[in-house]
Amino acid sequence: MEPVKTVTGKTKLLGVIGNPIEHSISPELHNTLSAVLGNDIIYLPFRVDTGNIGKAVEGLKTLGFLGFNVTIPFKEKVIEYLHQISREAELIGAVNTVKITDGKLYGFNTDAEGFYRSFRRETETGFENKQVILLGAGGASRAISIKAALEGASKVYIVNRSIEKAENISTVINQNIDNIAKACGYECMQKIAPTSDIIINTTPLGMYPDIGSSPVNDSDFLKFFKEGQIIVDIIYNPVKSRFLLNGEKLGLRTVNGLGMLFYQGIYAYEIWTGKTIEDEVLDKVYNAYLKVLVSRE
Ligand code: ATR
Repeated sequence: MEPVKTVTGKTKLLGVIGNPIEHSISPELHNTLSAVLGNDIIYLPFRVDTGNIGKAVEGLKTLGFLGFNVTIPFKEKVIEYLHQISREAELIGAVNTVKITDGKLYGFNTDAEGFYRSFRRETETGFENKQVILLGAGGASRAISIKAALEGASKVYIVNRSIEKAENISTVINQNIDNIAKACGYECMQKIAPTSDIIINTTPLGMYPDIGSSPVNDSDFLKFFKEGQIIVDIIYNPVKSRFLLNGEKLGLRTVNGLGMLFYQGIYAYEIWTGKTIEDEVLDKVYNAYLKVLVSRE
């Protein structure tokens, strides 16, 4: 990506707090965005010890940062230090983006919107009136299931090995959005998979180096899925997981996790600057971002 510009006394500040932070792609993504857009802003990574999150947030505010990203393990814990959070972040129970305005901290979750922007761009369709299955019930599943419900899905199934975690998510949806969510174990796939429109893997099954794994084994995959369905995996390394390769073999539309990672950052940058980024700029930055990700593997 483009080299970091010269920093002056006028340069505005953004950053990310997390632990670990060394492998974050966010500094390269956001600094490239600033370079391409001609914005005098720099984005820095900060590794923060677990007990120091409050001090770190206070420090960023004191130093006049425009805002910052929050990553593992602080996405839930950061909420208590903020003045206000968006409805989406509240339902998801996690914040990954904070904007600082007049000394006040506003929290957002851009993972769900990032996923949805990527999904719509790649499939030219949305969640409205769709029956959606989420495999897994961790933070990513929670964000995407809640987004699916908010965007008008007709049914949201959360399928997980430990059913209580899936039930926690379905309860949040049923009590706060619409009574359309259901939790079940993998045994229910036989029944729900054939009639579903969108099936999304949020488990790490199939992620490098465990590339032979998949949340649905090959023979079940052939039995469960058919033309017209969309297969999504939030994994981006490998770019085509076994789950997606099986989808391709059946001629189904597939979407990987590269776009989600990209668009959660784009949306955060739009929140901080208050400006929508044009598609032309997005395409340019996306190509640079892909090159960096591939060169890291
Ligand atoms: P994230 O927050 O990134 O979404 P996570 O919280 O670690 O990730 O969640 C991972 C999900 O993948 C969990 O739902 C986990 O299932 P459990 O809740 O039963 O632990 C699921 N997962 C991980 N390894 C799995 C495996 N080998 N088989 C089935 N599910 C698995």
